[in-house]
Amino acid sequence: MNIGIFDSGVGGLIMTRALVKHLPQYDYVYVGDTKRVPYGNRSHNEVHQFLKEGVAYLFKKKDCKLVIVACNTASARALRQIQKKYLPKYFPDRKVLGVIIPAAEETLKGKRIGILGTVATVKSKTYLVEIQKLNPRAEVFQLAAPSLVTDIEKGDTKAMKESFRKYLAPLLEKKIDTLVLGCTHYPIGKTFVRKIARLGGQVGKKVHVISQDEFIPKKTADYLKRHPEIKSELSKNHTRHIYLTKETKTVDTLAKKWFGQNIKIETVKLG
Ligand code: DGL
Repeated sequence: MNIGIFDSGVGGLIMTRALVKHLPQYDYVYVGDTKRVPYGNRSHNEVHQFLKEGVAYLFKKKDCKLVIVACNTASARALRQIQKKYLPKYFPDRKVLGVIIPAAEETLKGKRIGILGTVATVKSKTYLVEIQKLNPRAEVFQLAAPSLVTDIEKGDTKAMKESFRKYLAPLLEKKIDTLVLGCTHYPIGKTFVRKIARLGGQVGKKVHVISQDEFIPKKTADYLKRHPEIKSELSKNHTRHIYLTKETKTVDTLAKKWFGQNIKIETVKLG
């Protein structure tokens, strides 16, 4: 059986690349809902419905044993409901994992923590709640970055850099020591973010930038070690499949660059 990855767009591709690098032996199926991106400006009910459709597709049609919800917005808005209600009823032998609690676990050393995320993620306060559970003395500052996902989906590097600069300024003014890139799309600009954070952070102090592609693969490996009943069902043929709800130039270019010219990208309908 396969490992599924679900996201609204380019972000999931970044996560797929990171997983493939760390755990190359497994078979991966990535579904990106590029037709309905951005999720970050959508309602709770819409995101919940979209996530349900993505997960059902990966379980029913693509034989996934485990789905990683790479999308922070979907993890924040709908994951718990899916894990508590939908899975036990429809797919009791499958698992769905999110990215927010693992990211919160990475902030333990932080005292002043900045979260950059979509409007929906920030509104949900999921990061705030999860970080304060683990690190109650930390001060958490959230900021929504409504235009970033669109810049990244368009592959517009100049606009992306301008947006990062604009959104990071108020967080750096709060003298944060830790910054969570709270959206799967943001790691594509992490080198630039680290540069800005170095220049704009407290003089002489480094801002620790937390990028999910750098630890989710390792946490997935740990999870599989702790869950041999899941691990033993995963096939190991080194295959990678990409499905999008709408073809996009950015995903096409990056997929070919990261997975080779022969990678097949197919269009699917969800729901
Ligand atoms: N990539 C998703 C996230 O991590 C959502 C971006 C969007 O579709 O707005 O939040």
